[in-house]
Amino acid sequence: MAKRLMIPWHKDLKVPNKSQNCKEVLGSFHSEKKYLLLSGNRASGKTTLGWVYILMMAARRPRTTIVWARSEYSSIIDSSLESLVKHILKYGLQDKRNPFIFKTRPSRLLFKNGSKIILMGLRDIEKIKGVEPLIVVIDEASREKTVETFITIAGSQVGGRAGKWMTSSGQYFNQIIMLTNPSSKGHWIWKLYHDKQSMDDQQDELDEDGQQIQDLLKQDYIEKKDFLWLDFKLNDNPAYSPDGVHINDQGNQALNGLKATHPRGVFYDRYVDGIWCSAEGQVYRIQEENILSLSQITKRWGGLPTNVGWDLRRACDWGADHPSICLWIGLHKLTGDKLVYKEWRKTQADIDEIGLNIKAESKGQLITRTVIDHRKDMQRMLRKHGIPAIFATKGEGSVTEGIILVNAALRRAQEGKPGGLYIYDRAVCNRDPNPVTLTRPRSLIQEMETLEYDPNPKSDKPNKVGDDASDAVRYDYLADNNLDEDIYIEPMLI
Ligand SMILES: Nc1ncnc2c1ncn2[C@@H]1O[C@H](COP(=O)(O)OP(=O)(O)OP(=O)(O)O)[C@@H](O)[C@H]1O
Ligand SMILES: [Mg+2]
Repeated sequence: MAKRLMIPWHKDLKVPNKSQNCKEVLGSFHSEKKYLLLSGNRASGKTTLGWVYILMMAARRPRTTIVWARSEYSSIIDSSLESLVKHILKYGLQDKRNPFIFKTRPSRLLFKNGSKIILMGLRDIEKIKGVEPLIVVIDEASREKTVETFITIAGSQVGGRAGKWMTSSGQYFNQIIMLTNPSSKGHWIWKLYHDKQSMDDQQDELDEDGQQIQDLLKQDYIEKKDFLWLDFKLNDNPAYSPDGVHINDQGNQALNGLKATHPRGVFYDRYVDGIWCSAEGQVYRIQEENILSLSQITKRWGGLPTNVGWDLRRACDWGADHPSICLWIGLHKLTGDKLVYKEWRKTQADIDEIGLNIKAESKGQLITRTVIDHRKDMQRMLRKHGIPAIFATKGEGSVTEGIILVNAALRRAQEGKPGGLYIYDRAVCNRDPNPVTLTRPRSLIQEMETLEYDPNPKSDKPNKVGDDASDAVRYDYLADNNLDEDIYIEPMLI
């Protein structure tokens, strides 16, 4: 077990040593667990524990190099660093005993004892070879789509030290700690930890990841005993459990929050229950309650959205062989309900035709926001027509995140709760005469009724046919969700 912590914690940070899982992680250096995997539902405290562990290691062991990595560097700044700042540095930086120095950019934490924590995006992972870290933490590890990164890190440590790593009584010991929510059982992380036996059985069917994993596990520097898989639950989060076993009021509140924001289905199983399972079947859980006729709309809100009482927005997705789409979405100011009240879609449309149509269909409407698929030329074109547009959130995890948000809103509508998502059944305002439309969904509603996940268990992605308007809906929800200001940390020396 770890000794007493010596970092000046934020006063709200509870020292995570009560639950068995926390003890395993904090003591993993001594128990010589080389490859730790922390899997668990949302808010089970994995990321915070990861920070606590590496800060503790860095502060205790002079001249220790640690890497904190995520798929995209920018997401470290957006999210991981935020939790670090929230819990630890805000308090610590004002404290004279604080062992951190923040140097010029928030990509490195330098310690007075010569230790450092380097924040790194996994796209630059080759750089790790020159860094030779004692510990690499990969946050949101399942966002890595192939085992390649793991192999690079595991191999580079070995390369640096000719396959030798020393125990806690010696000096060096390299550790890779991965933090993740559950994903599909086809994911390389699951295979790496669980599937050796079954992979041996079905040699010929191994895919590329499977083959690479098998080759890796044959290396003499990798041994099964070095792997430890830990399943995290809310009781592992010290904020939610006083004793590491029972959940307190705050924990129950967190659980209810998770339940309310995750519709039943694969993401509920993963993010609320912490189960590894495949995304399969229908992507959007649309039901008849979500589809409204004009008379139903009139009964509910007195008519289609107008400039009064509604916030009107647009969301666009661009295609060539696929249709380009513009949706008009009303956000009801009192109930938070959203109604997709107009849909323009055209396959192989001319760029200016798109702009002119969007403008014409928006006549008289006070549009407060237009969020679009990333394309600079389209943004320029819209600006030419007097329409300022922001880009949709992209990046690893954003598809899943958007699907969860949209499904949660669909469900609120089905349960009659505020904040629901509704679609006008006659929203489509134009004809798209292109012959390919005969075989494809011709409206947002048809898309949502038919879109299924790619059956490949690794991919977790919707099939790429007919997800155009539903992509635009996702953009609108993701844009709502990303209102937080970017955090910026003033460089400071202590
Ligand atoms: N030791 C702690 N003391 C106080 N609060 C904590 C502690 N650990 C976690 N929390 C709080 O619990 C919440 C969830 O923690 P954290 O983000 O670490 O969980 P996670 O398992 O990484 O979640 P996700 O799966 O969503 O990434 C955070 O808001 C954090 O403030
Ligand atoms: Mg986390």
